[in-house]
Amino acid sequence: MNETFFGDPEYYARFARAYDAMVGSRLYNQMFWGADPRQYTAFAARAIGSGTGPMLEVAVGTAQATAALHVASARITTLVDMSAPMLKLAGQAITEAAGGTLPERITLECRDMLEPPQDLRYETILGLGLLHLVPDVAATVRALGRQLEDHGKLFLASLVKGPRRSNAYLGLLKAHGDIAVARTAGELFDEVRDAGLGQVTVTRRGAMGYVEISL
Ligand SMILES: C[S@@+](CC[C@H](N)C(=O)[O-])C[C@H]1O[C@@H](n2cnc3c(N)ncnc32)[C@H](O)[C@@H]1O
Repeated sequence: MNETFFGDPEYYARFARAYDAMVGSRLYNQMFWGADPRQYTAFAARAIGSGTGPMLEVAVGTAQATAALHVASARITTLVDMSAPMLKLAGQAITEAAGGTLPERITLECRDMLEPPQDLRYETILGLGLLHLVPDVAATVRALGRQLEDHGKLFLASLVKGPRRSNAYLGLLKAHGDIAVARTAGELFDEVRDAGLGQVTVTRRGAMGYVEISL
């Protein structure tokens, strides 16, 4: 098995709670990314509301933007992350949002999102805060595309270049090795289209790019 961890596994192992607080903070997201966590939730709601069949959220992290949505949804849902501490917080958040019991239709799997254990297919795949960690976007999108049903949809978000302050911070993160590439939304579009999966749209709000791919 060829495992690929995007980002710094040590960081997520040691600072899962701090990450969760940061990614959910309106102040942090406004200051650094010119964005709002409610936009992440709105994008995730589009993904979850786009179908009724099996749903996969990859690199789910702590499910900060999506826990309540997965509880409100009726879809058979799989949540995947390679970091056990992050996934544990996701499980807790969903259980709490559900009133104390993890709904049976929701499964959490600690594994590489690019190495599914069987030939499983999903109608929708969602990944938030992801593609800036990925060196080869086309290869990753292709690997996720292989897990989609015919006529399925991929919804992927990525930090991209945007406001000047965000670009400076992206430069620091890149220099520190915390992100793979600081792309423009246009570069992200080109790399996703190179995967040759289907119709692609990319929209940007602040320094967050939102990719939708329809097979
Ligand atoms: C920047 S965090 C995003 C978390 C969450 N989606 C969010 O927006 O808050 C990236 C996540 O990807 C996970 N990850 C990295 N490589 C992965 C892989 N190959 N398969 C599954 N999860 C992975 C990390 O453990 C981490 O939780």
